[in-house]
Amino acid sequence: MAEFTLPANSKIKGKGREHTAAAGAARVRSFRIYRYDPDSGENPRYDRFEIDLDDTGPMVLDALIKIKNEIDPTLTFRRSCREGICGSCSMNINGRNGLACTTAIEDYRGEVRITPLPHMDVIKDLVPDFTHFFSQYASVRPWLQTEAPPADGRERLQSPEDRAKLDGLYECILCACCSSSCPSYWWNADKFLGPAIILQAYRFLADSRDEATENRLDELEDPFLLYRCHTIMNCANVCPKGLNPAKAIAETKKMLVERAV
Ligand code: SF4
Ligand code: F3S
Ligand code: FES
Repeated sequence: MAEFTLPANSKIKGKGREHTAAAGAARVRSFRIYRYDPDSGENPRYDRFEIDLDDTGPMVLDALIKIKNEIDPTLTFRRSCREGICGSCSMNINGRNGLACTTAIEDYRGEVRITPLPHMDVIKDLVPDFTHFFSQYASVRPWLQTEAPPADGRERLQSPEDRAKLDGLYECILCACCSSSCPSYWWNADKFLGPAIILQAYRFLADSRDEATENRLDELEDPFLLYRCHTIMNCANVCPKGLNPAKAIAETKKMLVERAV
């Protein structure tokens, strides 16, 4: 990695770096940020950056971009849309998973502590490894599966009532805030699909146009894939899109019961 020079008001303090806001800054806020660089061979550490809120956008992502652009270009995080749509900037902010781009700095008092999503491997700094998460997503075949051609030979129509059944499901942006806040997923991520992926599976179970319902239910009928959910509800509490994965899990279980009786 290319070397860079710390700004004059930054210094190494203990194991981390500390950056002090410029003299005269009126609204100073401190950000304590988890740092980990696997290439350095060093243990993770926290760096502290003071930012002048009068010279920064209002969101946590604005502060991270300012730090990266003006203080420490090695700070690594994901972001793309800055509108709560792409799901890239999920991280843990003062103990709660959320999107940095839709979380206002002013919602917090005092120092803002930022760490990667919990219980996921870290690639670097605030970037978690989503390889397993997305392989679980692929495993539920998240696309419309059909046997017969459309009745009119052109498109698969859906009544407004059937379309409404997808509300609360299609909005998921796969940010993983819910799964990485679920204790059952922490302990059994290798076997339990977790709330985000089950919500995505249910999104196709609930779709009147999909014709693979039986296969989908067969695959989900497993003591670990689905039934490790113990209704802890962190998932619904933390979803930045206001979705309720716990409800989708309950509806999936209900479909399994209904076809068994
Ligand atoms: Fe993110 Fe919500 Fe989708 Fe979970 S359900 S992945 S928290 S948008
Ligand atoms: Fe986990 Fe949500 Fe179930 S937090 S245990 S998936 S209700
Ligand atoms: Fe896209 Fe935050 S940058 S959701």
